[in-house]
Amino acid sequence: MGTALVTGATSGLGEEFCWQLAAAGHNLVLVARRGELLAEIASRLHNVTGVRTEVIVADLAQPKDRARVGARIQSPEAPIGLLVNNAGFGLGRPFVDNSLENEKNALTVMVEAVMELSHCAARAMRERGHGAILNVASVASLTGAGTYSAHKAWVVAFTEGLSQELRGTPVTATAVCPGPTRTQFFDNAGVDMGQTPPWAMLTSEQVVSEALDAVSRGRVLVTPSPLYKVAMGAMKVSPRWLVRRAMRSVPHM
Ligand SMILES: NC(=O)c1ccc[n+]([C@@H]2O[C@H](COP(=O)([O-])OP(=O)(O)OC[C@H]3O[C@@H](n4cnc5c(N)ncnc54)[C@H](OP(=O)(O)O)[C@@H]3O)[C@@H](O)[C@H]2O)c1
Repeated sequence: MGTALVTGATSGLGEEFCWQLAAAGHNLVLVARRGELLAEIASRLHNVTGVRTEVIVADLAQPKDRARVGARIQSPEAPIGLLVNNAGFGLGRPFVDNSLENEKNALTVMVEAVMELSHCAARAMRERGHGAILNVASVASLTGAGTYSAHKAWVVAFTEGLSQELRGTPVTATAVCPGPTRTQFFDNAGVDMGQTPPWAMLTSEQVVSEALDAVSRGRVLVTPSPLYKVAMGAMKVSPRWLVRRAMRSVPHM
């Protein structure tokens, strides 16, 4: 079994990726900023499942930290067989009202870091002759609702392009587009999801298991759950003015 490197491993989808990958026997490299929490989760994963765990405390908004993570991805020691670009956050405010600093930070973590780490991984994996890259996008990639949507639309387009470049090699690229999922994401962004009915909220378990299944099948795009498959399908065929109008009542991520 290969080693998987998961960014944003301290909570939500990232932590769930670690548990499901560990249960399948993958050794893990966990990446996030909160070092104590990262070490605690890594040790629990090791004690419960017996897999080997490493941690890299890194702020993906910082070039030096991204370079350290990139170097680990390219290292021949315990080669990385799966890269999960999961770290991300909601901005929670409209672009014009937000600080440019927060906007640049979001762009760096959700776009630049995904590009840099994918570059490191795709080269190393192609050379070694195996590997997979999984990028966490969102249904927001089609909603046209602020810069968060723009970043996730980039992730989808980038992953599609990467998957085409890698055709004919043993390396795959997959993007997962989850709908709203119960994690700390909304609290961290200060977004109130109180009006969202419980049936419209996904669980991390469901999102991660569908995403990993898509990776194992070499699929390029996956939207977990029938509800959001239909929603994505509807947004693809609807006129864009209708999608924008429908999104007016939905808070910015
Ligand atoms: N929840 C949803 O409804 C939903 C829907 C669609 C897509 N997504 C996407 O799913 C991914 C995971 O989100 P989540 O819902 O699991 O949210 P979450 O529970 O808030 O987790 C976000 C993770 O990203 C890490 N992170 C944030 N900024 C970072 C930085 N600068 N450097 C390194 N790590 C950083 C956090 O770790 P530290 O704070 O320890 O650094 C944390 O582990 C994100 O890309 C998000 O956009 C979420």
